[in-house]
Amino acid sequence: MTQITLTETGMTVPLSSGPAYFNHCWLREACPSCIDSQTRERIFDVASLPDLPRARTARIEGDTLVIDWQGEPQVSHIPLAMLETFASRGRADDPADLPRKLWYSDFAPRIARVPQAAVLGDPAARAQLTRALIEDGIAIVTDMAEDDDSLPRLVNSIGSITPSAEGLFFDVRVEIAPTNLAFTAGPLEMHTDLPGEEAAPGVQFLHCLQNTVEGGLSLFLDGAAVAEALRAEDPAAFALLAEYEIPFFYRHDAYDYRAHQRVIETDPEGRVTGVTISQHLQDTMDLPQTLLDTYYPAFIKFLKMMQEDRFLIRFRSEAGNCVIFDNHRIVHGREGYVADSGKRHLRGCYTDRGALRSTYRVLAKQGFDGVVAAPQMASA
Ligand SMILES: [Fe+2]
Repeated sequence: MTQITLTETGMTVPLSSGPAYFNHCWLREACPSCIDSQTRERIFDVASLPDLPRARTARIEGDTLVIDWQGEPQVSHIPLAMLETFASRGRADDPADLPRKLWYSDFAPRIARVPQAAVLGDPAARAQLTRALIEDGIAIVTDMAEDDDSLPRLVNSIGSITPSAEGLFFDVRVEIAPTNLAFTAGPLEMHTDLPGEEAAPGVQFLHCLQNTVEGGLSLFLDGAAVAEALRAEDPAAFALLAEYEIPFFYRHDAYDYRAHQRVIETDPEGRVTGVTISQHLQDTMDLPQTLLDTYYPAFIKFLKMMQEDRFLIRFRSEAGNCVIFDNHRIVHGREGYVADSGKRHLRGCYTDRGALRSTYRVLAKQGFDGVVAAPQMASA
């Protein structure tokens, strides 16, 4: 095995995947003694040292890298497994970093469905639900209890309720003086919620309390799937929508929210993490007019793709079900309905994506990874 090579700024460590370089400051902070065992918080401040940390000696003992530091009586024992992870992934292991499974119009029968009692009482079911929300971006909780606390009980099993301009909860039903197209019987075009808020809520819950009207089917599509299709069909259009922010608003007598969002949201690796779409809450474009000459055709192409049948699922919201979806990825809408044909009442609220992933990580660390065993095939 090759030796550890020390330099002024760091060291090259022989790992199973080959030699890898690590910076001294990074290694000093990676020392397990920097984390308090009780609070689990960092108790070492690299800026408290008089000089930048520098190794005096370093050696591998078993499965740890042992570093003796210059200028302080500190010996660090850093697990090689941690170094292997950062050398290969560039970041810490994360059980919630699950690839998004893009879906199309045939997905409706495969949406994860979990009864509310199981979500609340069984960590395996809660892991199944949260994993589906990370991978598919949508899931349905069935058999919701009918008491007033039913929805908050469900939300709180995943995360705290995120307030919005509407408060903690909102009701979707016909109103006499609506402040939002959702509160009418008209069709509601495909959108993500509240793009005018600085941080639009991450995970949306829609609990169907009553639905006896004619029409009013719920519409959903996977915005990440449409964005990836755009990337494949028109990379230049994709690049424009992923680069520039456009303005959105939410405005009435007593409020005036404004925020800029990218229509296609990507992470540092360029993976699509979500979309922001809302024709009814889009403000007057403020990109340079000449840029709009190329931006608008790209934007309109993306909006038209969102109307294609290959992406869209339709289903009837049933009383007692709660649809949960990633508000930054799943684009939703509603067909119009006949207002006096019955009653339609959905109650909604939000939590955030960070809470969802936190809940899943805790369950995964307890051994509940949420993977559902494939049904056994009958042998011939
Ligand atoms: Fe909505």
